[in-house]
Amino acid sequence: MNIHILRSKAEIDRAVADLFIEQVRNNPKSVLGLATGSTPIGVYGLLVKDHQEHHTDYKQVTTVNLDEYIGLPEGHPESYKEFMRRNLFNHINVDFNRVHIPFIKGTCEESCQAYNNLLSQFVPDIQLLGIGANGHIGFNEPGTKADSKTHTVLLAEKTRLDNARFFNHIDEVPTHAITMGISNIMDAKRIVLIATGASKADAVNKMITGEVTESLPASFLQRHGNVDIFLDKEAAKLLLKK
Ligand code: GLP
Repeated sequence: MNIHILRSKAEIDRAVADLFIEQVRNNPKSVLGLATGSTPIGVYGLLVKDHQEHHTDYKQVTTVNLDEYIGLPEGHPESYKEFMRRNLFNHINVDFNRVHIPFIKGTCEESCQAYNNLLSQFVPDIQLLGIGANGHIGFNEPGTKADSKTHTVLLAEKTRLDNARFFNHIDEVPTHAITMGISNIMDAKRIVLIATGASKADAVNKMITGEVTESLPASFLQRHGNVDIFLDKEAAKLLLKK
């Protein structure tokens, strides 16, 4: 794991956005693995700015997102589909036919299988990740197996509470989601994870220095050969103490 501890979230956003811009410029047919949550919003803002100013071309790029809530009505502003449109897709020249976010159509099994089939065709050149305070990546909650593929999940209470800030009330936060599994995430050629703020410090410390364990799904990243972790000082505080 390559650990980068930078001075501010702004510096992290710049560094990570530059990795994505370079990837797309070097390979216009890149597959980008994308994430949601508050963490990647700054990166997406810089990709949009770069597209407007320097015309980086996303026409042939394919995107695959990590996860999506189950049960929100079509067009709900907190669905990850709407989040991605609002923060990125509506502002770059991506071809919506090449944009992929998991969703339920038919049974859960059929929907998961369909996304796995898609992922076997479109392996991310670079996968962006945030991390949950309980060490989840995507919506792979504690207890998720290393060989897991796309699956539906009952969200941990901690995750629902953390995400309640985006909704009017905790009762509105969906109880279930569909997510790429750990093995899908590990297939990416390169992984870039961002964590900022003291609330992530414990998960970050365990991810990097703890044992590889299902109880902290992000720890599986220790087994990937090409991972960059971008941290601010708060998220890195338990590492800096050592
Ligand atoms: C959500 C997402 C994750 C994200 C995490 C952290 O539950 N499914 O992909 O990394 O929570 O969110 P935030 O970036 O808002 O801290």
